[in-house]
Amino acid sequence: MTLRPIVTLPEPILRRKAKPITTFDKDLQILIDDMIETMRDAPGVGLAAPQINISQQLAIIEYTEDEESEEEAEAQGVPPKPKKLYVIINPEIIKVSEEKVSGVEGCLSIPGLIGDVERHEAIQVKALNRHGNPVKIKVNGWMARIFQHEIDHLHGVLFTDHATRVWKPAPDEEAPLD
Ligand code: NI
Repeated sequence: MTLRPIVTLPEPILRRKAKPITTFDKDLQILIDDMIETMRDAPGVGLAAPQINISQQLAIIEYTEDEESEEEAEAQGVPPKPKKLYVIINPEIIKVSEEKVSGVEGCLSIPGLIGDVERHEAIQVKALNRHGNPVKIKVNGWMARIFQHEIDHLHGVLFTDHATRVWKPAPDEEAPLD
């Protein structure tokens, strides 16, 4: 596996709508595995193909629903809840909750800025998995936020486009990056 360089603003590919994927070959599997390694190395909770300079409808997401329980598990010496890894190809949001929630987001492609962003609390997504099989995924909370952030990347949209407020984080201020 290979780490792929992450591109940042003002790289124009970040503003382009990515192309749908139609071929599920060995090269795609290598690309997906490289993206997983690159996301974990960053570290980030998600990564979209345009962020590694590939304008294709592919994103990966890996997040533990509950960071607190992860810390607690560590304190008690028991294994933490496994992180959930999603690979989504040609994703489409097919349902959204009326409820929206505000949360703080950052982006691996916009270093040094975080912002308040309003997102649907829950969404349903139709996509293809890494083998080209159709899947439907229901997510809520932070997972739903990350999905919306990644799917935006595939349409050339960045969190700063929706943010109600954007600022430079203080040294102790953290936001998940994706
Ligand atoms: Ni991002």
